[in-house]
Amino acid sequence: MINKICCIGAGFVGGPTMAVLANKCPNLEFNVVDINKEKIEKWNNNNLDELPVYEPGLKDLINKQRNKNLFFSTEITSCISEADMIFISVNTPIKTTGIGAGQASDLKWVESSSRTIAENAKGHTIVVEKSTLPVRTAKVIKDILSFALKNESIDSKKTFSVLSNPEFLAEGTAIEDLTNPDRILIGGEDLAAIETLKKLYLNWIPEEKIVCTNLWSSELSKLTSNAFLAQRISSINSISAICEHTGADIQEVSLAIGLDSRIGDKFLKTGPGFGGSCFKKDILNLVYLCKQFNLNEVAEYWEKVVEMNNWQRKRIYKIIVEKLFGNLSEKKIVILGFAFKANTNDTRESAAIHIATDLLSESASLVFLDPKVNDKQIKEEMNNYISNYTSLKFSELKISFCDDIYEASQDADAIVILTEWDEYKNLNWSNLSKIMRSPPWVFDARGIVNKKNVRNSGINLWMIGDGTIIE
Ligand code: UDX
Ligand code: UDX
Repeated sequence: MINKICCIGAGFVGGPTMAVLANKCPNLEFNVVDINKEKIEKWNNNNLDELPVYEPGLKDLINKQRNKNLFFSTEITSCISEADMIFISVNTPIKTTGIGAGQASDLKWVESSSRTIAENAKGHTIVVEKSTLPVRTAKVIKDILSFALKNESIDSKKTFSVLSNPEFLAEGTAIEDLTNPDRILIGGEDLAAIETLKKLYLNWIPEEKIVCTNLWSSELSKLTSNAFLAQRISSINSISAICEHTGADIQEVSLAIGLDSRIGDKFLKTGPGFGGSCFKKDILNLVYLCKQFNLNEVAEYWEKVVEMNNWQRKRIYKIIVEKLFGNLSEKKIVILGFAFKANTNDTRESAAIHIATDLLSESASLVFLDPKVNDKQIKEEMNNYISNYTSLKFSELKISFCDDIYEASQDADAIVILTEWDEYKNLNWSNLSKIMRSPPWVFDARGIVNKKNVRNSGINLWMIGDGTIIE
């Protein structure tokens, strides 16, 4: 029997996941804790537009459950003490220094969470890995927890079970993915703990969708899922380049191959390369794991998926420079979209960061717009990337922001679409052609605009993977 559940980490995964669980399990209490006080204040904000995560449907859920059976707080130790089950949902970024730098996940937050659990838990506690982790991280968690037990007095009733229950939600559709998942994966050895977690999900998910495996299969399946998805994107992106040289149209090719039920039609959209907090990190994790076992060919195989992704971004930047006569200085370029995909305010690993930096390195003057990412966040992301990974001086770069596309496009030489927001699909191209500097260009890296409308307005169009517009 469990009553109270704690989730460590109130981020893109922890927040929405607990909101759905709280909604589906009204008899249980969910406490989402985080070391970031500002973030917790935002989760508790009465103005639901100020939540730290934007996801369609999230505001409604928070409105329904918050302070009923869903609580957000910084009271980490007391929430852990009272919890029967604890989800670890902290971030696991790529290590930037030391052994495995650039590839291995930094597990310091998972380790510190495990130590805090070891110290503060009471009675029997089921610890669930929700974060995506390198294979065999459950062993680290178990070791930390069992070491703590050795230091406990003999009459202490503290015991732990560790489960892996990876999250498959995609940002932008998180609530829908959590409500109607393709499957739930639970990995573990303790059958009673597995049953307890399974019971939570059975509140709304049919039993046949709940798959139970051993711990390591569960951890590896999560990495493999993301690696396969990313691989499909790199595959279709590689074909987009061939289209542009042959007169083929990538959207027609995607449709044609996707109709083969063995291939399927999902994840075949070409674009400026995958972003987000998971794909690159998880593939590099897999690569690191392979190298540790001397599986160098396997490592190289997966590394290519990331290389192709980097190449796609560079390719787009080079095309923009080439079409604008090889020179961007004194040129104004409007960047439409900064989020790593539509319907989210997440900008981690967004293609926009990389492409915009490359354009700035050519002395372009950039105006940024995004319906859900504010100027402050864009500035921080750009500053962070430019200061850490380039020799450019952020303060010397020409960056500005605007809320209105038409105002931003006044005298602009080009508009570059990097996120597939709905509002960018049907712009008033004939109005834009009148206010842009000649010859005006649109670079559609998502393939979302109506080609005819853009071209009829007199604007030059480059669309990703579209060989048919090359004269
Ligand atoms: C998740 C997963 O957990 C990660 O493994 C996956 O690869 C990406 O998605 P996410 O929810 O997206 O992470 O990360 P983020 O939005 O950064 O949220 C993590 C939260 O954990 C942050 O709010 C951070 O403050 C919090 N945190 C971190 C703690 O509360 N305690 C810690 O010790 C460390
Ligand atoms: C991904 C996985 O889909 C999810 O299961 C896992 O739990 C976390 O990682 P997420 O990164 O949130 O989710 O979004 P996703 O929809 O997978 O998109 C990732 C990136 O790939 C985005 O930049 C998106 O624009 C890009 N993408 C996706 C394409 O370029 N083409 C596609 O066809 C699909």
